[in-house]
Amino acid sequence: MTAVTHEHDAPYQPVFVGERRKELDALFPLYPTKMACILPALWMVQEDRGWVSDEGIAEVALVLELTPAYVKGVVTFYTMYNQHPVGKYLMQVCTTTPCNICGAEDVVRALLERTGCSDLGVTSPDGLFTVIEVECLGACGFATPVMINEEVVESVTAARVPEIVAGLK
Ligand code: FES
Repeated sequence: MTAVTHEHDAPYQPVFVGERRKELDALFPLYPTKMACILPALWMVQEDRGWVSDEGIAEVALVLELTPAYVKGVVTFYTMYNQHPVGKYLMQVCTTTPCNICGAEDVVRALLERTGCSDLGVTSPDGLFTVIEVECLGACGFATPVMINEEVVESVTAARVPEIVAGLK
């Protein structure tokens, strides 16, 4: 499972230097315009920093020759970009109707209790976990799915939560 890097309070360090810059430059010939690289560029920022800060937005705007306002519009449109720092493990629980009727709310409650998160979107005091609710994860046949960073854990029940959380500590 990929862990997210955390630099919540550290001064912003540019992402697009060295290998990351080469990675981004390699994308340019594959897209019709630099602007079209905005989603992968933002994803690189999030992979390296755990979230997309205003400084990250400004850097993407600079390298893609866009305005920060345009980049912010994209970041705020897609829920997959974290607009705030998150824990080492971001736990996204599908609470859309099919999963909801299979106990998703119980899973959410159990996750909050086990991780020590005081509420949805609030990172646990140890910095390890953030739990959020999301719409359909496309795993409706395996309710309740919980996406932990990039990995989807299927058929999660409240009873399985202690083992899942313990396995991440
Ligand atoms: S409704 Fe929960 S994964 Fe589709």
